Amino acid sequence: MAETALSIAREKAAGRGVDADFVVADALHLDRLGRVFETVLDCGLFHTFDSDERRDYVAGLASVTSRSGDLYVLCFSDVGPDTGPHPISQEELRAAFPRSGGWSVASVSPDRIQTRFDAQGAPAWLAKIERISSQD
Ligand SMILES: C[S@@+](CC[C@H](N)C(=O)[O-])C[C@H]1O[C@@H](n2cnc3c(N)ncnc32)[C@H](O)[C@@H]1O
Repeated sequence: MAETALSIAREKAAGRGVDADFVVADALHLDRLGRVFETVLDCGLFHTFDSDERRDYVAGLASVTSRSGDLYVLCFSDVGPDTGPHPISQEELRAAFPRSGGWSVASVSPDRIQTRFDAQGAPAWLAKIERISSQD
């Protein structure tokens, strides 16, 4: 399934002239990528994890986000009506990225996530989170 999704993504990128690498990886072990990025995007993944997984996920994000890099998280919000599954409160989202962990939450704003179950999309948070310290 992942390989099928990746070949579709590769075709789309090629069709749009976008130079991008696509790899299959476990988001709970991002450190295994051995790569660091100035900008990291999460669209609809954060909210799928339970609290233990979220800790591993955020630790992995720390390993792939460069110092002064930016992480953008788009996740389901708990501000209804018609919230998506596993809605996240703004407090929960902010708490997952503490200053003590080397993060600074620059902004959290209301947004929408496109879904298959709602043509208007579901309520979401779009967070911009800065990496204020690196792991090395
Ligand atoms: C809610 S969907 C969002 C998909 C896509 N980003 C989008 O916006 O349409 C979450 C996706 O994360 C994938 N996923 C869940 N756990 C994962 C993990 N540990 N590593 C990589 N992908 C994972 C699921 O298979 C699913 O495709």
